[in-house]
Amino acid sequence: MKIAVSGAGGFLGWNICRVAIEQDHDIIGIIRNNSMQLDTCVTEQCDLTDHDAVEKLIERIRPDSFIHCAAASDPNFCQQNQPLAEKINVQSPTYLAQLCARKSIAFSFTSTDLVFDGTSAPYDERANVNPLSVYGKQKAAAEQAILKENSSALICRMPLMYGAVPQGVKRFLQQWIDQLQSGKALSLFTDEFRTPVSAADAALGLLMFTGSVHGILHLGGKERISRYDFGLIAAEMLGVSPSLISGCKQSDIKMAAPRPADVSLNSNKAYLLGFSPGSIRSELQKVLL
Ligand SMILES: NC(=O)c1ccc[n+]([C@@H]2O[C@H](COP(=O)([O-])OP(=O)(O)OC[C@H]3O[C@@H](n4cnc5c(N)ncnc54)[C@H](OP(=O)(O)O)[C@@H]3O)[C@@H](O)[C@H]2O)c1
Repeated sequence: MKIAVSGAGGFLGWNICRVAIEQDHDIIGIIRNNSMQLDTCVTEQCDLTDHDAVEKLIERIRPDSFIHCAAASDPNFCQQNQPLAEKINVQSPTYLAQLCARKSIAFSFTSTDLVFDGTSAPYDERANVNPLSVYGKQKAAAEQAILKENSSALICRMPLMYGAVPQGVKRFLQQWIDQLQSGKALSLFTDEFRTPVSAADAALGLLMFTGSVHGILHLGGKERISRYDFGLIAAEMLGVSPSLISGCKQSDIKMAAPRPADVSLNSNKAYLLGFSPGSIRSELQKVLL
């Protein structure tokens, strides 16, 4: 299948390109600034908020499927840069969904567990959304607009993801590894729960369902865990002392974007369809060891 992946210089998009190449898909990675280090992947540069440029690009590359991972993905950035984040997180995916519907291209959107308020986890696909942050509100607004514009679209709500990253990108796990390996202490939330999944498994899920499943689908992992307990597992696997990890509460750290307490996902629908994410330990092993 010929698949265009936006945000291909970012964390998830890059992982999707890696996995898709292994599956012998014909991949076009769409990047903005960050250049990808995937020799076998064709890349195209495009600012996806420029709708004319997007239409010309799609017309030229004509993919069978478009997986949209480009986003303003940092909730604190979105909280402080609302108009720009709105263009990237709402207007751009809405336009893409409409364009893909017009051109009969399968469209998959990556949303987030942060569309929920964290008070009644675990959340399945029928649960009411009630985002706390600007980022969560923008993703929820994009979901609604996409489904209105494109009834065949797939909306995958992603949980917290961890795994290998492209050069120049850092995610929470890489920051933890750097700190722990240099003997520095980490203070992690004991009262924030997610159902993390490795980016490699998330990529497998998105590739499995793009073009074949429509509507909303949760792609969470099978374990509900706090950041603190996740950190303890990482420390143990890195062979560093667990005493480097201490617990703190969400309320101890001031951040621009409000954070829900427990946005664990119920992903049984995806599991029944064949999505089978590995355990945190087995997936961490692939990244850490
Ligand atoms: N990471 C997680 O744990 C997590 C959890 C839940 C949901 N998600 C969702 O999963 C998706 C992927 O997240 P991620 O962690 O991979 O994000 P990321 O690493 O921040 O990557 C986002 C990518 O989007 C690109 N981008 C931003 N604005 C653009 C524009 N105007 N035109 C073209 N490209 C643009 C960025 O390009 P540059 O490289 O040029 O900046 C970046 O490569 C997002 O939809 C995010 O909301 C992520």
